[in-house]
Amino acid sequence: MPPAVVLTVNGTGHVLDVPPDTTLLHVLRNDLGLNGPKYGCGLGECGACSVLVGGRVARSCGLAVGDVAGWPVTTLEGLARDGVPDPVQRAFVAEQAAQCGYCLNGMVMTVRALLNVDPAPDDATLLAALRGVLCRCGTHVEILRAARLACG
Ligand code: FES
Repeated sequence: MPPAVVLTVNGTGHVLDVPPDTTLLHVLRNDLGLNGPKYGCGLGECGACSVLVGGRVARSCGLAVGDVAGWPVTTLEGLARDGVPDPVQRAFVAEQAAQCGYCLNGMVMTVRALLNVDPAPDDATLLAALRGVLCRCGTHVEILRAARLACG
């Protein structure tokens, strides 16, 4: 029997009886009921599964829970404070950036991670950060407008 994995997600500690090589995405969605991170490609290429690990954006489909134990994990659900959405979330709502919405978790988490280290990124930096998050609906114009609004 493998030892339990201790994981801190959105400020709450969890003791999980799962093999340490279980993907973080699987644990978040199936064990903790956090459906903000999405399963897209499962290969680390689309960004739909993005979360913050230690404040930096990471693709949870490619991370083993055993490797992130000890690091604070934040999901889309954990960005709000006292029921008030994060400014990045508010910007995406204000700009009505979603079509199907499947990519928005990755977009929001990526912008939040960028703002954590660069509170006023220039356009090139913003575009570079978002380049790896795929949107199949083609709402890039609205997404970029929202991201720019979030950046102030
Ligand atoms: Fe993780 Fe696509 S589902 S990057």
